[in-house]
Amino acid sequence: MNPACLRESFEKAGQGQVFRFWDQLDETSRAALLAEAAEVNLAELKELSAMVVAGKASEISGVSLEGLGPAPYVPLPENGGDAAKWKEARAAGEEALAAGRVAAFVVAGGQGTRLGYDGPKGVYPATPVRRASLFQVFAEKLRAASKRYGRSIPWMIMTSRQNDAATRRFFEENHFFGLPERDVIFFPQGRMCAVDEKGKILLASPSSLAMSPNGHGGSLRAMVESGATKLLEERGIDAISYWQVDNPLVHIVDPAFLGFHVLSGSEMSSKMIPKAYPLERVGHFCTQNGRQLVIEYSDLPAEMQQERTADGKLRFLAGSVAIHIFDRRFVEKMGGTSAERLPFHVAHKKIDCVDEAGRPVKPAKPNSYKFEMFVFDALPAAKNPVIVEGRREDEFSPIKNAEGVDSPATCAKDQLLAWERWAKAAGVPLPAAQKPPFWEVSPLFADTEEEFVRRAKAGEVPPVAEGSVLL
Ligand code: UTP
Repeated sequence: MNPACLRESFEKAGQGQVFRFWDQLDETSRAALLAEAAEVNLAELKELSAMVVAGKASEISGVSLEGLGPAPYVPLPENGGDAAKWKEARAAGEEALAAGRVAAFVVAGGQGTRLGYDGPKGVYPATPVRRASLFQVFAEKLRAASKRYGRSIPWMIMTSRQNDAATRRFFEENHFFGLPERDVIFFPQGRMCAVDEKGKILLASPSSLAMSPNGHGGSLRAMVESGATKLLEERGIDAISYWQVDNPLVHIVDPAFLGFHVLSGSEMSSKMIPKAYPLERVGHFCTQNGRQLVIEYSDLPAEMQQERTADGKLRFLAGSVAIHIFDRRFVEKMGGTSAERLPFHVAHKKIDCVDEAGRPVKPAKPNSYKFEMFVFDALPAAKNPVIVEGRREDEFSPIKNAEGVDSPATCAKDQLLAWERWAKAAGVPLPAAQKPPFWEVSPLFADTEEEFVRRAKAGEVPPVAEGSVLL
């Protein structure tokens, strides 16, 4: 759109204040402002702002508790699941992987505020001995899977505007961790602008809008708008294995999970992990009007989170750990412009901006509304969704906070505990100096307990000493 038309469309939408300082801007600043303005979907923003102005911000994502029950899920064999079905699913998943039907997808566009790390979170050193970055761990897991299934598995990495260049540079500097460069596909996620109580877009400076990433739900749009889904289609890929950048334990392409997804003809499948305790701060897999959905812990009353069934089990047991598989065509639909797009969630926040005279404002109380999409909101729209149980100790230990729960320290300990279990299962003796013993297994050496045991049986595990790294 040419600059005059763009400005006119903002005027018409009642957002002309975006260009308030136009006459005072130099050419470069004008170009920057126009580029940001072009990112705004005015029709979508109009709808959202109208809700804010009408005092209905809380209704935008429309969480209702009516008729809510726990979602059904496929339990692990050791928890009552059908072992034959798991075997069948695993074979189907392995077949899909060997046929090259699967791509991997990590969302790495967050701001990592709680961790307080200055840089893309994927660059954060996550392993206990090598201090390998999260990205390196995932790359090594992908290399292991590609070798096992005899197919290169394309890897999409969603960045943000802020961390895109740094992320790409990190991969280049590290020679893509041994992955074929053409199989690593970067794209930044979209952004949303913040509005004030009157629904007007806030300016961060005279030449820029107050914008922030549009949430992990923006990943569906970003896949479509970047052309990544098209690329996958050309390569005959229809299953997308999704995870978050903060969890190095994740099985990035889990054959049994993929198999349940494929065999059910599912459009979106999710991994569930039983909650560690009733009020654990995770999303809850629920069912409502015959559809599956995730309700955030903050939207589910504490009494419901703690409800028990007659046999004493938590009624809402299934926690969401943000591990999903998407059908590519479903992403094309949900990430496109159809009416079925994801809903937005609204947060009332303090955002630095400039006032009508262009003076900087540091608000003392919330002055704006921010809009974000959550990826799990796609679940109710999915046909034949399947929710499959995973093992927390093997699959989930995120790095969210600088200290305390879900921190680098707890994650390193969980990695060490997992390797200790693998060694025990394989009968491999470990040094006794620390508990858990301090050593490391690269995914290139073994990415699962099963693989570790296989290598031990083949006599391929060397003696382990304090600080050893098996590569
Ligand atoms: P979190 O909700 O933990 O957010 O994101 P965060 O930004 O990483 O961390 P805090 O809340 O500021 O401390 C969960 C996952 O979703 C991705 C993150 O990169 C992480 O993998 N994410 C989140 C995005 O890719 N984009 C977003 O806009 C938000």
